[in-house]
Amino acid sequence: MQIRTLKKVITILSVIFILSSCSKDSILPDPPTPAPPPPVPGQISFAGEIQPIFTADCIRCHGVGQVAPVLVEGKSYLALMNTADMVIVAAPGNSILYRKMSTGGSMSGYCTKANADSVYKWISQGAKNN
Ligand code: HEC
Repeated sequence: MQIRTLKKVITILSVIFILSSCSKDSILPDPPTPAPPPPVPGQISFAGEIQPIFTADCIRCHGVGQVAPVLVEGKSYLALMNTADMVIVAAPGNSILYRKMSTGGSMSGYCTKANADSVYKWISQGAKNN
C-alpha cells in the first residue's frame, strides 16, 4: 500500500513538473529580426554603389569569359582582390582599377568622373565587401 501511494505521489509530481515546464515563452513566436543598422554617412557600399557602376557600364566587356577582370555581380569582388595591384588599399590612387577609370585612364570613357571618385573612396575606406 505504501509503495502504491508513493508511486501515485511521484506520478502526480511528475505531471505537475511537466505541465509547469511548459512556460508561455515556448508558445510565443520568435521576435522579429532586428532591422540592419543604418549605413554610416559617407561609407561607400560595394554592393550598393560600386557593383551597380560595373553592372551598368562595364560588364558588356568584362563579363564571364570576356576581358579580365570579371566585373559581374557575385564574381567581381574576388576577381578584383585576386589580381595583383588591382586594388591597393594603402595607396588607392595606384590601384589599377582606379587608374583605368580616372581621367586619362583607358576606361575613363566608359564611366563618369563621379563613379571613378566613388571607386577611389571605396578603396580608401578599406575596399570592403560591404
Ligand atoms: C567596350 C569594352 C569595355 C568596357 C565597356 C569596359 N572595359 Fe575595361 N577593358 C576593356 C579592354 C579591351 C581592356 C584591356 C585593354 C586595356 O587595359 O586598356 C580593359 C581593361 C580593363 C582593366 C585593366 C585590366 C588589367 O588587368 O590591367 C580594368 C581594371 C578595367 N578594364 C575596368 C573597367 C571598368 C571598371 C569598366 C566600367 C567603368 C570597364 N572596364 C569598361 C574593355 C572594356
